[in-house]
Amino acid sequence: MKIAFVGKGGSGKTTLSALFIRHLAAAGRPVIAVDADINQHLGPALGLTDAQAAALPSLGAHLPQIKEYLRGENPLIRSAEEMIKTTPPGPGSQLLRIVEENPVYAACARPIALDEGSVRLLVTGAFAEEDLGVACYHSKVGAVELLLNHLLDGPDEYVVTDMTAGSDSFASGLFTRFDLTFLVAEPTRKGVSVYRQYKEYARDFGVNLRVVGNKVQSAEDLAFLQREVGEDLLTVFGQSDWVRRLEQGAEPALNTLEPANRAVLEQLKTAADLAHGSRDPERYTQQAVSFHLRNAESWGNAKTGIDLATQVDQDFVLGAERLDAAHA
Ligand SMILES: Nc1ncnc2c1ncn2[C@@H]1O[C@H](COP(=O)(O)OP(=O)(O)OP(=O)(O)O)[C@@H](O)[C@H]1O
Ligand SMILES: [Mg+2]
Repeated sequence: MKIAFVGKGGSGKTTLSALFIRHLAAAGRPVIAVDADINQHLGPALGLTDAQAAALPSLGAHLPQIKEYLRGENPLIRSAEEMIKTTPPGPGSQLLRIVEENPVYAACARPIALDEGSVRLLVTGAFAEEDLGVACYHSKVGAVELLLNHLLDGPDEYVVTDMTAGSDSFASGLFTRFDLTFLVAEPTRKGVSVYRQYKEYARDFGVNLRVVGNKVQSAEDLAFLQREVGEDLLTVFGQSDWVRRLEQGAEPALNTLEPANRAVLEQLKTAADLAHGSRDPERYTQQAVSFHLRNAESWGNAKTGIDLATQVDQDFVLGAERLDAAHA
């Protein structure tokens, strides 16, 4: 399952991503956590010190290596230099699995021991001041798009991505690469307006979007979200003293989280598991191809000096039968 957390700045994306990741790990599920936000906070939210988080290797700094590995023996991709963030996999490409050792994880992923279970963390890398507003930001996030497009994930295995705030996510095709997107919304007009905007963008791409209310304090808060969001509202996470203790530097155990909030995490897991059943590998692959062709025309062909449409194998589908074959 490929899961994203999106929403307004400060709504609680990182908090809920980290808690969901811990909940999955505690259930013994394999999890890859991905920090794709401009402000990299997922590592600390999973218990790393600032110094440990700052020392994490970044996907952005390993892009050439990642491309070199993923293109594998694919004859349509002649070099890593000709591979852009949307270059789709094809026969011969080296696909990734959630549970395996590979050079990409060796270079970029770091294990994090949690109070219950453990996960692997990948981070896009901090965005330096000079990166903002230029291609670097998108190329760093592009690494995540590449990885997801080359990932064979099965049920009961999860990639959980903490995304950037607001609608910055739409700068690339990344927002379409998830089985389920949790939009975190506080019970405020701004929180809900980000939801509306996201839904509007996402509609044409068939993005599976559910709203998770956060910092809900009262029946009025709940009623507000129900009224404004309607059936897209999956559940609400309450204003939490446990989260506040965490924020104050304590390291409360997951099993001391308020039971109602822990139940919300289980609801998110159930929704994620359901999403796997409604997956459409052909559509997923076609979308990757169409984003690739758009990128090729708008800047990729000019940048690489080749016709990037030639990288597409129309018959290739990143799908379930390949996963079976890979495990056989
Ligand atoms: N349910 C909650 N109860 C209490 N405090 C919360 C809750 N959810 C989040 N917070 C607090 O709200 C603040 C913002 O949360 P968080 O950093 O997770 O948001 P974010 O959406 O990731 O923000 P950014 O856009 O800056 O990345 C933090 O101080 C966090 O501790
Ligand atoms: Mg955050």
